[in-house]
Amino acid sequence: MQVNRARSLFMGAVTCTAIAFSSASIAHGDEEKRFPESQYRHDVMEFVKYAYGNIAQLMKGTAEHDGHLAKHAQIMASAASMAKAAFEKDTRGMEGATEARDEIWENWDDFATRMDKFEADAAALATAAEGGDMSEIGPAFKKTMGNCKSCHDEYRK
Ligand code: HEC
Repeated sequence: MQVNRARSLFMGAVTCTAIAFSSASIAHGDEEKRFPESQYRHDVMEFVKYAYGNIAQLMKGTAEHDGHLAKHAQIMASAASMAKAAFEKDTRGMEGATEARDEIWENWDDFATRMDKFEADAAALATAAEGGDMSEIGPAFKKTMGNCKSCHDEYRK
């Protein structure tokens, strides 16, 4: 029962996030080459995406691998712990592709606070996943995924 409840919580989060990302799947700037800093932070965020995708699969049951959920949650937490630093360098005006908006460095304190929250939520998810209690994992996952869209709306092109 608990598992089912946690699953439906998860699926709610997964659906919201899938909607949030559907417009982002048009890869902006792929024609233009990313400059190295842009590539670096992009790839940190790609770890987040892949971890999210596999956690969603494990929750849906479209993939079954014992112990993997906790490992993906660790990957997510690890990537989240690098995310703020990955954006620290002010790259406004640099030549090349990026989806990062200038507002990141205009409002650095706000952006940094959001990244700190994302990091803390992802760390809590990793702890919950390690414990294996679905009634804690579901809400922690939902909370972690709640950071994505609001930041992208403000700070990503
Ligand atoms: C505090 C802000 C912030 C948070 C939180 C955040 N992102 Fe991002 N994300 C960005 C910015 C800014 C970029 C664009 C980076 C660039 O191109 O230089 C980005 C890029 C990405 C990319 C690269 C591909 C693309 O479409 O640009 C993916 C994938 C991604 N984010 C997924 C996620 C997911 C999943 C979450 C939540 C679990 C998340 N992000 C949370 C700010 C954030």
